[in-house]
Amino acid sequence: MVNKKAFYIFLAGTLTSLAIFLGLTWDTHRQVDALTNADKLSEQVVAGKRVWEKKNCNLCHTILGFGVYYAPDVTKVHKRIGTEGIKQVVLQPEVVFKDSFRKMPNLGVTEQEATDLAAFLEWVSKIDNHDWPPQDSEERMSAAERRATGGAGLSRGAAAFQQNCIGCHSIGGAGGSIGPALDTIGATYDAATVAAYIAEPTSVDPQSTMPPQTTVSDDDRSAIGEFLAKQQ
Ligand code: HEC
Ligand code: HEC
Repeated sequence: MVNKKAFYIFLAGTLTSLAIFLGLTWDTHRQVDALTNADKLSEQVVAGKRVWEKKNCNLCHTILGFGVYYAPDVTKVHKRIGTEGIKQVVLQPEVVFKDSFRKMPNLGVTEQEATDLAAFLEWVSKIDNHDWPPQDSEERMSAAERRATGGAGLSRGAAAFQQNCIGCHSIGGAGGSIGPALDTIGATYDAATVAAYIAEPTSVDPQSTMPPQTTVSDDDRSAIGEFLAKQQ
């Protein structure tokens, strides 16, 4: 009798757990298309995924919990360094990381492949993974990392910097090297001076060879100025 009771308790417990598990699984699958923005799965995103596989980026990197942790988790990298930043890294890692103790090899990625990879990583970064697995969590990213990379979709200035400047300038080792690294630029120029520099570099430094960035809006210039003034 006692054994029988135990058996029924076991059975009820197992069946209840199973029902909850199946219910939650069904519920998750029901939401997959919305959580992953399946409608944004363009041909370019698919092409980028193919390059990711062909070049075996997973050998060093992780996305969505899958891969290796030798190199940074890149689930949310698009929010950190943007399309231009990703292209710079992939096309010339030896330049971008020349001062770094870790090295990413140049994998011979073409311009088109780099653009496709950036589209793929942008799509990945927008998947609502409920902040799990947490390694590349936007919330848990350390303050130091945020400062170094401009942060995950943080301020408007950081985002505008990634969009317009990171192809030529780096912060915290990420970015291009056509212009100088801007890690300590806030010690030289205040926000208003940076904003003026962007529109007309020679108005601040008559010798400057930087081309005027005429496509950056006035608001974005001010925001970038605020952002860069803090880099010191
Ligand atoms: C042999 C290992 C290796 C492979 C393969 C590799 N990477 Fe990297 N990658 C690295 C390392 C190491 C870093 C970080 C360098 C540093 O911070 O000094 C890095 C950095 C990056 C970053 C910047 C990450 C950040 O958080 O700012 C991106 C983006 C990136 N890699 C993309 C790729 C892509 C795309 C591929 C495939 C085409 C790839 N990597 C293949 C080792 C690798
Ligand atoms: C096409 C490449 C390119 C782009 C894009 C670019 N810059 Fe530059 N930038 C340069 C170069 C090159 C210099 C060095 C100019 C010189 O001293 O002759 C420079 C210099 C600077 C300086 C002065 C640095 C110093 O130490 O005196 C600032 C500030 C600056 N850029 C900010 C920006 C900002 C902000 C953006 C984005 C809105 C931006 N740049 C976009 C190439 C670029």
